[in-house]
Amino acid sequence: MKRHLLLLFMCFACFQHGFSSTNTRDVSALKSLSKQWKNTPKSWGRGDPCDDRWEGINCSDSSVTELKLFNMDIRGQLSTDIGDLAELVLLDLSYNHNLGGPLPASIGNLKQLRTLRCISCNFIGPIPVEVGNLLSLRILALNSNKFTGGIPASLGRLINIQWLDLADNQLNGTLPTSANGSPGLDQLVNNEHFHLNQNNLSGPIPSIFFHSSMNAIHILLDHNNLSGEIPQSIGLVKKLKVLRLDNNSLNGSVPSNINNLTAINVLNLANNKLTGPMPNLTGMNNLNYLDLSNNSFDPLDAPAWLLDLKQLTTLIIESGNLHGEVPQAFFSFPRLEEVRLNNNAFNGTLNMGSNISQELQMVNFQNNDFTSVTLSSNYNKIIMLEGNPVCTNDQLGKTDYCGQQKAPASDSFSSTCSHPYEGPIICRAPSFSNIDIKAKTDSMWTKIKSKLSEFPITSNLGNSFFDGNNYLQVQLQICHNKSKYFTRNETLVWLDLSTQNLNLSEQYGPCFFNPNQYSYDHKGHRGLIIGVVVGSAAAMFIIAGLGTYAVRQRKRAKKAINLNNPFASWGSAGDQDGSAPQIKLAKYFSLDEIRKFTNGFSKDNEIGAGGYGKVYKGILSDGQIVAIKISQKGSMQGGLEFKTEIEMLSRVHHKNLVELVGFCFEKGERTLVYEYISNGTLTDNLSGKKGMHLNWKRRLNIALDSARGLAYLHELAKPPIIHRDVKSSNILLDDDLIAKVADFGLSILVVETERDHVSTGVKGTLGYLDPEYFMTQQLTAKSDVYSLGVVMLELITATLPIVNGKYIVREIKMAIDDYDAEFYGLKDMIDPALMLNTGCLVGFKRFAELALQCVQESSENRPTMNDIVREIEIILKDIELKSISTSSSATYFGNARVAFQEPYDELALSSGVNSATVNRSDEYLLS
Ligand SMILES: *[C@@H]1O[C@H](CO)[C@@H](O)[C@H](O)[C@H]1NC(C)=O
Ligand SMILES: *[C@@H]1O[C@H](CO)[C@@H](O)[C@H](O)[C@H]1NC(C)=O
Ligand SMILES: *[C@@H]1O[C@H](CO)[C@@H](O)[C@H](O)[C@H]1NC(C)=O
Ligand SMILES: *[C@@H]1O[C@H](CO)[C@@H](O)[C@H](O)[C@H]1NC(C)=O
Ligand SMILES: *[C@@H]1O[C@H](CO)[C@@H](O)[C@H](O)[C@H]1NC(C)=O
Ligand SMILES: *[C@@H]1O[C@H](CO)[C@@H](O)[C@H](O)[C@H]1NC(C)=O
Repeated sequence: MKRHLLLLFMCFACFQHGFSSTNTRDVSALKSLSKQWKNTPKSWGRGDPCDDRWEGINCSDSSVTELKLFNMDIRGQLSTDIGDLAELVLLDLSYNHNLGGPLPASIGNLKQLRTLRCISCNFIGPIPVEVGNLLSLRILALNSNKFTGGIPASLGRLINIQWLDLADNQLNGTLPTSANGSPGLDQLVNNEHFHLNQNNLSGPIPSIFFHSSMNAIHILLDHNNLSGEIPQSIGLVKKLKVLRLDNNSLNGSVPSNINNLTAINVLNLANNKLTGPMPNLTGMNNLNYLDLSNNSFDPLDAPAWLLDLKQLTTLIIESGNLHGEVPQAFFSFPRLEEVRLNNNAFNGTLNMGSNISQELQMVNFQNNDFTSVTLSSNYNKIIMLEGNPVCTNDQLGKTDYCGQQKAPASDSFSSTCSHPYEGPIICRAPSFSNIDIKAKTDSMWTKIKSKLSEFPITSNLGNSFFDGNNYLQVQLQICHNKSKYFTRNETLVWLDLSTQNLNLSEQYGPCFFNPNQYSYDHKGHRGLIIGVVVGSAAAMFIIAGLGTYAVRQRKRAKKAINLNNPFASWGSAGDQDGSAPQIKLAKYFSLDEIRKFTNGFSKDNEIGAGGYGKVYKGILSDGQIVAIKISQKGSMQGGLEFKTEIEMLSRVHHKNLVELVGFCFEKGERTLVYEYISNGTLTDNLSGKKGMHLNWKRRLNIALDSARGLAYLHELAKPPIIHRDVKSSNILLDDDLIAKVADFGLSILVVETERDHVSTGVKGTLGYLDPEYFMTQQLTAKSDVYSLGVVMLELITATLPIVNGKYIVREIKMAIDDYDAEFYGLKDMIDPALMLNTGCLVGFKRFAELALQCVQESSENRPTMNDIVREIEIILKDIELKSISTSSSATYFGNARVAFQEPYDELALSSGVNSATVNRSDEYLLS
């Protein structure tokens, strides 16, 4: 303590005698911040923060007013000294995906703060109640972290707030509302954006939450656990444009005055337990997007109020208990793009009339009771009728209306530079449907391009799709025109694409850009010593080297480094190889700490054991749950593999790769501490041991996740990494069944001089091993592709690659039948669990073909990991596009444009009028 004071004092002294203008309190706060961070910008630590323009800092009157350090790859924790930057107006730490730990309560001291953004960081623990002291706050965006606990009621004091985004965390408890003088969210009368979606909020929505002085335009409560009735008071929020209450457990009937919301554009109540009559939406004259699917509304004739909703682009009422005939006039609404009324009981004749909206792209009436259809030559887009009696007719039954077809081609993203700044723009309530997104994103692009036009930058939009939450994701890629990499400085000045800068909400609903972690050029950053953080203040001080005090300090520091260096004894035991590991991030734990985390290696904490040693579940002092792998002495994992794994894992960070939290190397014990992945290995999940049903879509997602993790290793890690041991038991599934690739013990760095292959003794796991690598000993990234191909075959068959001497790859290659458009000749080999409740699997053949390409003998003929990612994305997008929910029965279907080159084209034209009627008396009897 004394030492620190003296140190600070000396720093202040030198600044005061020098050129300093930043006030001393702010200087020391900044130093304290950077002490807990890796990768602060280079300018930090040089001279005076304000005078010498430290990157990301803006000052006024010798106080720091802005701290903007988004996507700087900062790692570590936020120091409580943040609370000393008393004049701070803006704090933006977003997209530092490895900046985490708890958010310090002292943040509540920042009384001038108007903007607080920490989007997509790794913050954990509760949102401190002290955030409620930030009375100047306009924008609070803490979305996409791992905050837990309840929403603090104190946020109700933030009377100036306009944008409140706590989405995509793990917040639980009820929506806090004011009572007996204590604050609540209902008091945020100036707030326009309540984004509380994707949490674990529960309990009813309090009636007082909605009231007439509310100025809210976007209320997102979707994907929570809310129950009870939708309060009557909802009708009072007159300015509301977006209301998403979908994917909760709301019950009871919808209040009839919901149609007082006459400004509303997007209304989504899908996937709840709502009962009673379907709400009468007459009067919602601005409604574009309506989804009422999967509730338990009373049976109803096609509602007349539909005809009032003339601005509709999208109507989705799946499983809505609707019957009767659909009014023809509805299909002529000028903006109509997509109609999904599948799984209802509409009957009689489907006749969309001849005056059909030019915008209409898809009509899904699967699983209704239509006995005949009237086709119009004015409409040549998708109609889906599978599961209607009319499809039992021999002729129609064979067409695309009732059947199967190839997925439409998809636009893929062409990478135009080697180190783009990229990621998705996520829009959570677009006013249009998921068809023909490309045309819809043009205006988005125009806005972005104009925002970036003054800089030497090229931007591209690509790969747009609606994700599983019905959020629109648009990939944005930004290339530097003059250099290979962006510098940190350029990122901060050029690429500030925060929501408020983009201003997209009119058409797209609330959006935010969520860029991937940018890998800055690491040249000249080598040789950091691990486990010891030499804060820049201390470093500066030592370099300044004033007086004997400094010299003494330096000696002390050196000693401290040695004491703290976990690898001080590396090599001394004789069985380690090479020099001590170079680690930048992973934490070093002592054996005592490890013992504490695991409850003294208690039996109850043991979650796995094998030849390598044991795995324990543990809880760190900050509450994080971890898996602790303790290698047995003399086990397979030798010193080299241990070191490899730590080095690899601390260099790579990707949501589809298991994160290394820390390690322990003491008394010959080799211990690795990983993030805890709750649902275990893919092998176990496929075997059914876990009681988890992995349906088709989930399996595709697992393949996609794994491929993404590996593509990151192959293409983005510097130098690239080949995993070398891809197998289903090294793929772990988390709570949300997101797959993460684990176990880097055998991984290999592809060093520049070796170009793209490495000669090495063959290692890997039998059954997954690339035969070419086995023969030639030349390891390339394509060896991982082979192994992943085997895993993909496992996903299809749920059998291990080698069973009773039979090799899955050979068996499948022998079975394939190219003429079988549905199952590719593999029907008998498909995991029976996949066929539960479903006749067929969308995209099956395409996926099986892809898997077989991966296991080609010659690595040249295999796709790259990125190709795999793209192809699976297309298959999934197609499933999404055709709105096959995981629960409803899956089918093949396709693009009806081609359908019209089939016999029914003739039919439509031969009648000589705009529409050809097909009915029972006709010679084209279809029922
Ligand atoms: C610093 O803040 C001032 C006042 O808010 C602003 O005008 C200026 O653009 C900011 N400078 C930078 C580099 O952000
Ligand atoms: C919320 O989660 C925390 C753990 O994060 C738990 O202790 C608490 O009981 C939960 N509260 C509710 C109301 O579920
Ligand atoms: C709201 O809706 C109810 C029921 O439909 C109606 O009686 C009432 O007049 C409406 N209130 C306003 C302010 O429009
Ligand atoms: C729906 O509401 C409108 C206006 O309030 C009313 O005229 C109409 O009859 C209602 N329709 C039904 C089916 O209740
Ligand atoms: C449609 O179904 C209803 C009962 O749900 C029935 O009354 C009606 O006659 C059916 N219409 C046709 C054309 O079959
Ligand atoms: C960062 O960029 C700003 C504006 O482009 C410039 O004034 C400043 O000197 C740059 N700082 C560094 C360290 O490059």
